[in-house]
Amino acid sequence: MESLPWVQSLVAESPVISPSLLACDFGQLQQEVSRVEAAGAKVLHVDVMDGHFVPNISIGVPVVQALRKATDLPLDVHLMIEEPGRYIKAFRDAGADSLLVHIEVVPDPRQILQEIRDLGAAPGLVINPDTEVEAILPYVDLADIVLVMSVQPGFGGQAFRPEVLDKVRAIRKRMRPDAILSMDGGIGPGTISQGAAAGANYFVAGTAVFHAPDYTQRMAELRAEACSATDT
Ligand code: DX5
Ligand code: ZN
Repeated sequence: MESLPWVQSLVAESPVISPSLLACDFGQLQQEVSRVEAAGAKVLHVDVMDGHFVPNISIGVPVVQALRKATDLPLDVHLMIEEPGRYIKAFRDAGADSLLVHIEVVPDPRQILQEIRDLGAAPGLVINPDTEVEAILPYVDLADIVLVMSVQPGFGGQAFRPEVLDKVRAIRKRMRPDAILSMDGGIGPGTISQGAAAGANYFVAGTAVFHAPDYTQRMAELRAEACSATDT
């Protein structure tokens, strides 16, 4: 099994910084997308929340459609929803390039990962900070993207939880080398290096990018910090 070509391209360019639009100014969605694109983003992270799996509601299918018109960058779609199987086709039709489902709601994800692959999107698995790594290990080689949450999902701006780094190390050993190992939550200067040293090659960053005065400078700073942690 091989990752989709766009996933392989990102892995080749890793470490990757993926701006999380949850922290952007939604009143200027098109401009915010253009700004992070100009700042060097090669992919965008899109957080979908249903108010059930997480206590918050965020982006839905129409916003993914609008994003698809606003950019050619791959849209990495993180489904924090209870019944992801009901919605994968709608999000794929809207323009999602990846569809990430939580192991907590799909304990045996083999079928849904295949369905996502059959739809032409990159299949991804996500694990929460409080879920044991053993829940996900048997399936990580079926995913093009594995995302380790470094905060409890639902809100941006939370503090990074370093105890999840053991999970990153354990998952790295079992993953295909052409796949993405991502971290999401509290990623910024000072924490990205810890994730990179543990073996992650892709970093979702919301607050750290969109609340920075200069997106280009912040993206470069994050990438440099991740690079130097991987070199050592
Ligand atoms: C949290 C989301 C994240 C969020 C990260 O539930 O999955 O993608 O946007 O935000 P920061 O980078 O601010 O922790
Ligand atoms: Zn996310």
